[in-house]
Amino acid sequence: MQQNGTLFTEADPEGVRRRVAGGVTTSDVVLSAHVGGNADVFPLVLGLHVPRGATVADVTWGKGVFWEKVPRGKYKLLATDLKTGTDCRALPYGDGTIDCVVLDPPYMEGLFRRSKEHLAGGGSHSAFRENYSNGEPTEGGGPKWHAAVLDLYFKSGLEAKRVLRPEGVLIVKCQDEVSANRQRLTHVEIINEYERHGLYCKDLFVVVRTNRPVVSRLKKQEHARKNHSYFLVFVKTTKKRLSSGGASASARGTASRPAGTGRPRTAAQGATSRGRAKR
Ligand SMILES: C[S@@+](CC[C@H](N)C(=O)[O-])C[C@H]1O[C@@H](n2cnc3c(N)ncnc32)[C@H](O)[C@@H]1O
Repeated sequence: MQQNGTLFTEADPEGVRRRVAGGVTTSDVVLSAHVGGNADVFPLVLGLHVPRGATVADVTWGKGVFWEKVPRGKYKLLATDLKTGTDCRALPYGDGTIDCVVLDPPYMEGLFRRSKEHLAGGGSHSAFRENYSNGEPTEGGGPKWHAAVLDLYFKSGLEAKRVLRPEGVLIVKCQDEVSANRQRLTHVEIINEYERHGLYCKDLFVVVRTNRPVVSRLKKQEHARKNHSYFLVFVKTTKKRLSSGGASASARGTASRPAGTGRPRTAAQGATSRGRAKR
């Protein structure tokens, strides 16, 4: 590490010295990909994006696993869950009153079924169902399968935006899934939708599980088995810094479409264009 006032020189890997304005040279930085559990990664996400003392509403508390390694008292924590009577689509907070919302609803379509017998995680996997859903069947009439997963993310994301103060932070946990033999990149779908509503995707963390998933009744593998999930970090913004053009472009019907292609913009494209400007 080297530093001297506002300007110093440092050598790049080829040994060429260049001038750098202030700052330090270090590898001690928060990284975007981690092998571990949610309880290991969540404190890093908070540490980078949410200042000590902030009011944080975890609206899908579950068993509070995310918070196991966060020092008690570091934040003013408001913990709710459907199991305790609070739906994350109708929060009991006023507009613009919360600094940070944490959202981790059931992320797979198997946890949205009309009958309890068909919910994922029955029998010997009941702990899975207990940890990842409220264990109740989905009401009839609403969207089904993967659309039901997205519906909950989209509606609760809008509700989170309502209660967040300007520049407030929304941390969303999600995982992609193959549904009806179709690849559904849930994290891309969430980013595109949220950015249309003025939630700028500021950061993305990849969590890689430590053990190997077991697949039952495999005949022919069609897709890579997912062993990773995401923490997405959004900022409620009024500024024009949305990677996909944002809400105003959306109103003109041009959101999510890179100029000239006519194709929806992916999260990766958004990240690349931001990366060129600033890492
Ligand atoms: C993946 S688990 C959350 C795990 C949690 N992050 C933890 O660290 O233990 C999903 C949770 O969302 C809750 N849930 C499902 N639908 C909900 C809703 N509409 N509103 C609030 N919570 C909901 C379930 O009861 C379940 O506890």
